Amino acid sequence: MKYLVANWKSYITSHKDAKALFLATRDEADACLSEVIVCPPFPFLPDIKQDWDMAAGAQDVFWETKGAYTGEVTLDMLRNLNVEYVILGHSERRKYFEESDEVINKKVKAALKAGLKVILCVGEKQRKEKNVIPKIVAEQIKANLAGVPKTKIHNVMVAYEPIWAIGTGLSDTPENAHQAALYIRKTIGKMYHTKLGMGVKVLYGGSVNSKNVLEFVNYHGIDGVLVGSASTKKDEFTKMIKLVG
Ligand code: 13P
Repeated sequence: MKYLVANWKSYITSHKDAKALFLATRDEADACLSEVIVCPPFPFLPDIKQDWDMAAGAQDVFWETKGAYTGEVTLDMLRNLNVEYVILGHSERRKYFEESDEVINKKVKAALKAGLKVILCVGEKQRKEKNVIPKIVAEQIKANLAGVPKTKIHNVMVAYEPIWAIGTGLSDTPENAHQAALYIRKTIGKMYHTKLGMGVKVLYGGSVNSKNVLEFVNYHGIDGVLVGSASTKKDEFTKMIKLVG
């Protein structure tokens, strides 16, 4: 089964637009075999989970359970909405909110402990040698998953998102994304057990659209895609769901 994860980021700003996009996405998702996971901004999560019930993810979460943490959204708040997934370590959070590997690690451990599934984003800023996946990808994996018990690894999905490919229209090649997926699985395999590493689902993200989605999802070893701006355009995203099937 292939995964199509829609990261709405902060593109959609009204309930009206969120509802229209969500309904179109849900109708197309209902007719296909892939797992479509919508990750809207926090204010739109209740609409998706309570009114229509489909797989949903949050774009972030705090690691503490409750208390004096102005502005934070906790794990129980998500669980009470039956949210299944959370995106963590996205490069935009690393960049604009200065989230360190240590902070991401705390969030990953807390989210897994609370029973959520984690979509962990990793990726390099630049690629110096054309076809070589930079070591930073393995370093992020090791730091972000440090201390995660092996019994929880099946709840981690990794999204390989090279930063230079995000929002630029310059997607990576499927062959490189496949190499990155192997590298990620090997890294996790070395941390735990080869078999465990090989079982990890790896998505590709970075300028995926209806023109290139099939090249990625049909490539051996790539389990799906994490889509940003194209997932917020109704016609474009429904076309992508239809193509992937
Ligand atoms: P774009 O699809 O807009 O390049 O964004 C990718 C991304 O960051 C998904 O998380």
